[in-house]
Amino acid sequence: MNKIQENYTFSMIKPDAVQANHIGAMLSMIEKAGFSIDAITMLQLTPIVAEHFYAVHSDRPFYKSLCAFIASSPVVVMVLQKENAVADLRKLMGATNPVEAAEGTIRKIFATSIDYNAIHGSDSDETAASETSFFFPGCDLLLKKASTT
Ligand code: CMP
Repeated sequence: MNKIQENYTFSMIKPDAVQANHIGAMLSMIEKAGFSIDAITMLQLTPIVAEHFYAVHSDRPFYKSLCAFIASSPVVVMVLQKENAVADLRKLMGATNPVEAAEGTIRKIFATSIDYNAIHGSDSDETAASETSFFFPGCDLLLKKASTT
């Protein structure tokens, strides 16, 4: 997905949630909310990849610790499809700080702090396209759909 498409978003289950064995429960919430998982893999980011992925935050005081955390152990990266995918996933995730997250959201249930907040989701269609191509270069996201029809 190198070009910007509506109805797709990128998401990452972060190291805290992976270590706590919450992958299955979080994927279940995502699917029950109507998202189709069109690409998924588990991997561990190198520190350099983490710095690149979060480069937009490089001026923020939490940048170094954020990069160290995200590269500390495996993550699950995925591409999700649904109408209004970006906005609907952010609603399902809840506020960045779990203290402010609405009841029933992923971060309210699984996050333990603003630093260890369980899940990342793209903030726009543009970001979704660039984050997707970062982790799934050249991936044909329609493959799953084509193989089931
Ligand atoms: P995420 O959606 O992955 O985007 C950047 C991450 O930085 C964010 O989730 C938080 O986990 C982390 N972070 C730490 N401190 C802050 C802060 N003050 N504001 C925003 N994000 C923060």
